[in-house]
Amino acid sequence: MDNFTFQNPTKLVFGKGEVKQLSTLIPKDKKIMITYGGGSIKKNGVYDSVINALKGYNITEFGGIPANPEYEVLKEAINKCKAEKIDFVLAVGGGSVIDGTKFIVAGAKYEGDAWDFISGKATVKDALDFATVLTLPATGSEMNCGAVISRRETKEKYAFSSTHCFPLFSVLDPENIYSLPQRQITNGIVDTFIHTMEQYLTFDNKTYLMDRFAEGILSTLINIAPDLTSGKKDYQTYANFMICATMGLNNFISMGVVQDWATHMIGHEITALCGLDHGQTLAIVFPGTMDIMRKEKKDKLLMYAKNVWHIDTTDQNKAIDLVIEKTENFFKSIGMKIRLSDYDIKKDVINTIVSRFEQRHWNVGENGIVTPNKVRLILERVY
Ligand code: NZQ
Ligand code: ZN
Repeated sequence: MDNFTFQNPTKLVFGKGEVKQLSTLIPKDKKIMITYGGGSIKKNGVYDSVINALKGYNITEFGGIPANPEYEVLKEAINKCKAEKIDFVLAVGGGSVIDGTKFIVAGAKYEGDAWDFISGKATVKDALDFATVLTLPATGSEMNCGAVISRRETKEKYAFSSTHCFPLFSVLDPENIYSLPQRQITNGIVDTFIHTMEQYLTFDNKTYLMDRFAEGILSTLINIAPDLTSGKKDYQTYANFMICATMGLNNFISMGVVQDWATHMIGHEITALCGLDHGQTLAIVFPGTMDIMRKEKKDKLLMYAKNVWHIDTTDQNKAIDLVIEKTENFFKSIGMKIRLSDYDIKKDVINTIVSRFEQRHWNVGENGIVTPNKVRLILERVY
């Protein structure tokens, strides 16, 4: 196990009807800006419940944050925060709204162009207070300090993180996700699954407890996925889905752990260049990462095969083939496509992605083992 420092300051407020707690969680004298996306919260009643809970507060709003939050739009929100002297932002939405809000709260306390945080020209030194009401379990953004921001004009998508960007609190009411379309439930299951795998499927670093936590999240997702995708609105199923997603990326399972993240880095390029949803990119890339990196990841692949899928691992190669197939079938069973060509993407995109990795001198994955050449092999495997 590696040395580590752990701190996660976000308060979780979980359960049916808990949006009403907003008035006890936010001081009365705050000037609040509510941020949201394309309008789903106005159709499913979440907006109304937030506004009801905040009666008597000084509120303004900023809607229209798109999926894969866009720099140009967020810049407008930053200007609004500065002009109206906002001192608290409440993000109501999924990962895109929450990530966008992290960029907004950091940008509102910065004199220069907030893109500097992404390009590495500046680091976040301060941010406005913010909190979230989550409407889509997937990213874990409600309880971590990372964000991923896109720039459409250059087809770029990059992550940034800062300890100033932890939400003060997040309200998770499973009933707020009943309105999710199947596509987003599927995306959320896959994103949570791959977050867990990025922190598990490296090499055996003797992190026994964290490995069992990770296997617990994976097994829970596999167990609840049929019910989640059946269209049945069962409170306990949705509640377990929500907490799996949060625990998948709030640093609890990564204490002392060696992490990968190559699948995410490749996936972000596919979203930036081809517009696929984040979850869709992961379902394509991850089986390729497992297969192409099977030698380096052998011990963990076998642990995963045995403990999560109960596969006999006596014949190691056979077990690894089988666990890759089982993972692909799991994604397919919840309605995911698992090949780039399933989305009519031209094979040329592989060259573009590989040359971006080369230009940026990116060797990703644990210990930089996923070189640009491995990225090519992974993408060719899953074309
Ligand atoms: O915009 P609205 O109208 O709200 O609709 C959204 C959007 O169209 C809709 N939706 C959300 N909650 C809903 C709902 N529709 C009906 N009922 C509800 N309750 O779902 C669509 C997708 O929303 P989005 O927020 O984009 O999805 P997600 O939560 O999957 O977030 C994806 C973004 O998060 C980043 C991704 O790269 C991507 O940009 N990630 C952030 C991470 C982090 N901060 O730690 C880690 C992740 O790996 C990921 O990279
Ligand atoms: Zn993700």
